[in-house]
Amino acid sequence: MPKNTLSVTDNRTGKTYEFPIESGCIRTMDLRQIKLNEKDFGLMGYDPAFLNTANCKSAITYIDGDAGILEYRGYPIEQLAEKSTFIEVAYLLIHGDLPNKEQLAEFLHLVTHHTYVHENIKTFMDGFRYDAHPMSILSSTVAALSGFYPDAMDVKNAARRRIQMIRMIAKMPTIAAFSYRHSMGLPYVYPNNDLSYCGNFLAMVRKMAEANYKVSPVLERALDILFILHADHEQNCSTTATRLVGSSEVDPFSAVAAGITALYGPLHGGANEAVLRMLREIGSVSRVPDFIKQVKDGHGTKLMGFGHRVYKNFDPRAVVIKRVAYEVFEVTGKNPLLDIALELERVALQDDYFMKRKLYPNVDFYSGLIYEAMGFPAEMFPVLFAIPRTAGWVTQWEEMIQDPEQKIARPRQIFIGSKRRDYVPIEKRA
Ligand code: ACO
Repeated sequence: MPKNTLSVTDNRTGKTYEFPIESGCIRTMDLRQIKLNEKDFGLMGYDPAFLNTANCKSAITYIDGDAGILEYRGYPIEQLAEKSTFIEVAYLLIHGDLPNKEQLAEFLHLVTHHTYVHENIKTFMDGFRYDAHPMSILSSTVAALSGFYPDAMDVKNAARRRIQMIRMIAKMPTIAAFSYRHSMGLPYVYPNNDLSYCGNFLAMVRKMAEANYKVSPVLERALDILFILHADHEQNCSTTATRLVGSSEVDPFSAVAAGITALYGPLHGGANEAVLRMLREIGSVSRVPDFIKQVKDGHGTKLMGFGHRVYKNFDPRAVVIKRVAYEVFEVTGKNPLLDIALELERVALQDDYFMKRKLYPNVDFYSGLIYEAMGFPAEMFPVLFAIPRTAGWVTQWEEMIQDPEQKIARPRQIFIGSKRRDYVPIEKRA
């Protein structure tokens, strides 16, 4: 019977150590037994950007990047996108199982009845300049919520935790819509509790003087599918930011605000916005070969919406999104940038540069085209990512809080600075 252990010989001392292997991992802390002498601190792992380090055990989302598989709580993303709703998926993430009818109705009631924000939140948002990016409005406003719910600091109390999680899922569309209305100089529209999660959001964004704004059912369902696809993605940059900040036991509004700021970056959730700008810059199908050449020349131009740290195959979310795009274009008319995107994809998938590096379209490649066809400006795209990802962030945050192995996150460093030296008075410095 082979042993599930790893033997390591330290060639500096000739000593051999044996470490258990569990779930394909050794515990990096075991390396600290490897010392030159009693005074030695012990060996550490060096892993910038966590390329090969598991930071937690998680039961929420499973990804097989080589096979292009994504599952929430065991359910394949394709089945959820086809058969479920975002609210049901949010329940699934938080509770671990799909709800029965009563559980779903109760959850929906809870979310629906926490959509309003304190009136002072509106005043807070009014403080932003008209051209403030809606992501900075969103992250600041979510952080500000902690000032409205001081009970959120009680992160060890399960009931208090749950209510903050519901509050965030419920209020995110309201804050997101308000941030859009603010940037357009339009009056805020209050939530309508008779509408669905996505229907209400679209109404808060679009409603003008009509008594009852009618949301297109196709667009409402398309947005719901996009929200399902974006709900969680295990230990990505923004989720890790949420977990790391939350590990100090700060309130979850502050932790999720950190997640939103991480998502804002163009290498993460800001990529959908960057894709659209790239497509506009390319401008026509005939210029695609030149652009691809520019990317391959290695002067820093990236094919935005391509590549992923984990997926080395098709991002399964991108496959569903491409299908949804055509359904949306049936209603809105085709986005003229679609042809450029299709040509980019076609050329890249046959090109050695992209094939060798296993670069495929990711979730952001087509989502921006749909959002634009729905009438959202590019700055709103990362906001549209943040709304559903909130369900993932709060679930991951709670899992971290409840995990007895977790402590305040505190990586080590390899110090490469100056050796100790004595202070030199300014008149004696060169
Ligand atoms: N265009 C051109 N080349 C790329 C791209 C791209 N989009 N992505 C990666 N590469 C190249 C890199 O230059 C590198 O080449 P090299 O080996 O010659 O140096 C190789 O592929 C490996 O890439 P890394 O940057 O090491 O991969 P990493 O896992 O660190 O980065 C990331 C992943 C950030 C997603 C990257 O692929 C990227 O920047 N993509 C564009 C931005 C984007 O679409 N982000 C959204 C990701 S999905 C999400 O966050 C929701």
